[in-house]
Amino acid sequence: MLDQPLPVVVRPSTEQDVPFMVDIYAYHVQNGLGDYQPDPLHPEDIKRRRKAMLKRRLPHIVADFNGAIIGYAYAVPFLKRPSYRYAVKHSIYVHKDHRQSGVGRKLLPALIEACAAAGYRQMICYIDGENAPSLSLHEGFGFARAGVLKSVAFRFGRWTDTVLLQRPLGEGDASLPGRLESVAEEAGSQNPPQYSH
Ligand SMILES: CC(C)(COP(=O)(O)OP(=O)(O)OC[C@H]1O[C@@H](n2cnc3c(N)ncnc32)[C@H](O)[C@@H]1OP(=O)(O)O)[C@@H](O)C(=O)NCCC(=O)NCCS
Repeated sequence: MLDQPLPVVVRPSTEQDVPFMVDIYAYHVQNGLGDYQPDPLHPEDIKRRRKAMLKRRLPHIVADFNGAIIGYAYAVPFLKRPSYRYAVKHSIYVHKDHRQSGVGRKLLPALIEACAAAGYRQMICYIDGENAPSLSLHEGFGFARAGVLKSVAFRFGRWTDTVLLQRPLGEGDASLPGRLESVAEEAGSQNPPQYSH
């Protein structure tokens, strides 16, 4: 890890950021322990997902380094059923050439902050049991292991465990939930918010 993290700005994504996100994601699905997708992801898929999330008031943020997007993160509903409407799950990806430069350390708290500000109460993440960087990053930001799903993933010729992690947001279950608020406006507006982390 570098002493000085990269001077990135964390902000809501725009449609112009999509090609960067496609590149980042394509590398990780082919080589990493993150998500796995047999077919290449089409830019339209990310555009559609991004719009769907913004419509549902869920954050979709990027790490901007001098105009280049070197990481992104977003939250989606944990489950579709209404009882679970205060719980989100999320994904985070950093460009392969900028890992261990403090980008994840900027994106993750910004995503947590945005989800909490929107009124969500629990944040959930599924991480491959062998993904030490992601496990360490999440545990460093208050995620606790809620369980291990044994051998539920099969990729690159073998079975792997999935670790379930959870973090309360805001007052968690210490109070009744309120109304879910709108998160960051679609970037591209006059003054898109920047996050403090
Ligand atoms: C996991 C990931 C998001 C971490 O982002 P990053 O920008 O590389 O992480 P940072 O440089 O901000 O480091 C933050 C913390 O993560 C952990 N970490 C990062 N890289 C690590 C590594 N290679 N080994 C162990 N811990 C690591 C450390 O706890 C680190 O904090 P520290 O330096 O104070 O110890 C990034 O490696 C990535 O995109 N991986 C591929 C996609 C992926 O697996 N996404 C998560 C799916 S659940």
